[in-house]
Amino acid sequence: MITHEENEMLCRVGKGTVMGDFMREFWTPALLSSELERDAPPTRLMLFGEKLIAFRDSNGRVGIMDHRCPHRCASLFFGRNEEGGIRCGYHGWKFDVEGNCLDQPNLPDKNKYPAGVKSYAYKVQEQAGLIFVYMGKRDVPPPMPNLEALIGDYPDSTVALTQRDCNWMQALEGDVDTSHLGFLHMGGIDGEALDESNPSRYTVINKAPQINVTETAFGTMYSASREAGEGEDHHRFACFIFPFWVNYPGGASLDKGVTLNGWVPIDDYNTMIFNIDRLRGTPAGKDGLKYKDGRPVEGLARPVDYLPTTSDWQGRWRAKSNLSNDYHRDLEWMKRGSYTGIRGIPLQDQAIQESMEPIVDRTMEHLGSSDRMVMLTRRRLLDAAQLFRDKGELPEMVDKPELCNGTAGGDIVVERGTDWLDVYEKVMTERFGPNSFRRDAAE
Ligand code: FES
Ligand SMILES: [Fe+2]
Repeated sequence: MITHEENEMLCRVGKGTVMGDFMREFWTPALLSSELERDAPPTRLMLFGEKLIAFRDSNGRVGIMDHRCPHRCASLFFGRNEEGGIRCGYHGWKFDVEGNCLDQPNLPDKNKYPAGVKSYAYKVQEQAGLIFVYMGKRDVPPPMPNLEALIGDYPDSTVALTQRDCNWMQALEGDVDTSHLGFLHMGGIDGEALDESNPSRYTVINKAPQINVTETAFGTMYSASREAGEGEDHHRFACFIFPFWVNYPGGASLDKGVTLNGWVPIDDYNTMIFNIDRLRGTPAGKDGLKYKDGRPVEGLARPVDYLPTTSDWQGRWRAKSNLSNDYHRDLEWMKRGSYTGIRGIPLQDQAIQESMEPIVDRTMEHLGSSDRMVMLTRRRLLDAAQLFRDKGELPEMVDKPELCNGTAGGDIVVERGTDWLDVYEKVMTERFGPNSFRRDAAE
């Protein structure tokens, strides 16, 4: 059971809040690298409720800073991105990507004091096609977590951003609430008609799995287990990684999928999803899912269509189908089995999470054994954030990125009765090497 006070602590992310200060201590994805061009006008960006600008200078370096000029607080959004820095439109002061003042042209030479003024710039780094920002208190930021989806070179098309009009935590909880798959997403599907090799088959046939959960060094993890074929069990795994990452099971097998969702708070009421599927192996991929006899499974393969981008603080990556048009739901399809008539997995999740109100009132809930992962993840986050508030301590994985080595989401069929953590450890060892998954921290 969660109290109103705990709910507030879990959800609020502004400066000075318990969760907001905790989350700022982690590298946070802010934009796709391709969203910023050299010397192009700055982009308005909101993270954790802070109004920022982002720009790429003439040398290709990225700056992310408070949008207010440190002179008299005019918005640098109206500044000019030129020759290695941004020049404020009000009196022409100029700042580089690190916030250093390069010019104060409205002051006589004897009165200039560039060393005494800095814009409120954050540390930035680019990796795997994404721009990350560190908004925490350390002078030297921590290393990036060793998450497979954030390492290596991939095409842009393996990341999809979408804005969701609800609090980050209820959006994230959708990713670890595995039992909804057989209803919201696959309610109208005939499981028996799916091929035995299709991991979704067991999810659709048995809609009430056993949920196994544990804390880990990187956060929490679960398996949803069900009987599969003769003498076999099916496990569906996902990991939550501090502070907002989830290796979701996107339809790929546990030994192959490279999936990661980042649930990044724009403010208390809006979230930017960084959906990373490096192999694009999910049922929502472009070919969709098919039955054994070749018929397509209806309603899964539907990429999100976006509204035109605007320069508003929240003008990027908004879905065309939204609450104002009931997500273009198809009531006829509901008669054929769909639970919502809304097409496409991402949009189905979006509609449900936004329908809970911008911040869900968790004191109204009645949770069951299907919600064990949701409960554990809330508790783990609350405990970690309060430990940081009270003692300044962060989870060990912040400074030991290798503790994230053995994380993945996906499905696997194994011999009946095999321990779920034994299964996971074996696959992670084969995939990432010995000790990639620290079992001792999971029990
Ligand atoms: S407010 Fe920016 S230069 Fe004066
Ligand atoms: Fe979902």
